[in-house]
Amino acid sequence: MMTDPCIHVFDDRKEMNSFLIKKWTEIGMECIERRGVFAAALSGGGTPTEFYRELASASSAFPWDKTHIFLVDERFVPISEAVSNFGMLRTCLLSGLNMPPGNIHFIMTDTASPVTSANEYEEELMSFFGLIVGEVPVFDFIGLGLGADGHTASLFPGSPEAEVPLAPESSRLVVAVRRDNVMYARVSLTLTVINNARDVVFIVTGGSKAAIVKRVVEDRDMGFPASRVEPSSGNLTFVLDSEAASMLNK
Ligand code: 6PG
Repeated sequence: MMTDPCIHVFDDRKEMNSFLIKKWTEIGMECIERRGVFAAALSGGGTPTEFYRELASASSAFPWDKTHIFLVDERFVPISEAVSNFGMLRTCLLSGLNMPPGNIHFIMTDTASPVTSANEYEEELMSFFGLIVGEVPVFDFIGLGLGADGHTASLFPGSPEAEVPLAPESSRLVVAVRRDNVMYARVSLTLTVINNARDVVFIVTGGSKAAIVKRVVEDRDMGFPASRVEPSSGNLTFVLDSEAASMLNK
């Protein structure tokens, strides 16, 4: 059963990024001490870029050689495209680190189709986490954004891929997503994987997200995929700036 989410609100973006770096470091160091590895999946979009840049410059002593970075989702475009999530992550975070190449797990988008990419990424998850069919990976950290329409990852309202699976053991780990109102076909982790993580952290900023933050964080309106992020035994944290939190009552 999910514990109540933790909500942190910051007036100052620098303080918010310092909090995120501290949280990343604490979680990562604990995982590496306990299990020798830290497996994290990160989202794209615009919100986390500042955090990624500051994380790259602030954590030279962090054990990146024992850290594996995955993508939460990807747009089905060449990684050279400006809208590529991996392209952004490489620019803002990875290029500043000396991570072993084998520790970086991105979603291939030069395949025949998004379905092929989803299948290949799912196989990579199964291999890395040493799973058999029906088992679900346990990420140590998953960073999520929140769209104004209530999507997260590439799980959009009304999309069958965004439904909470009745039988997680038979659920896909990675799906291909095509929506008429969404630019680019997408490849995304499913809620089955996201809700199996040890720590899930939403990073949301800006007044344009205030209304959806209230619907998701306070109302827990299950009409929105982001509200269905309810880690079964992990921690759920919302890290918000004051603009994004401006419609919360508490
Ligand atoms: C993507 C992201 C997506 C993002 C939200 C918020 O591929 O776009 O994974 O889920 O986190 O759309 O995007 P912004 O941070 O740009 O508002």
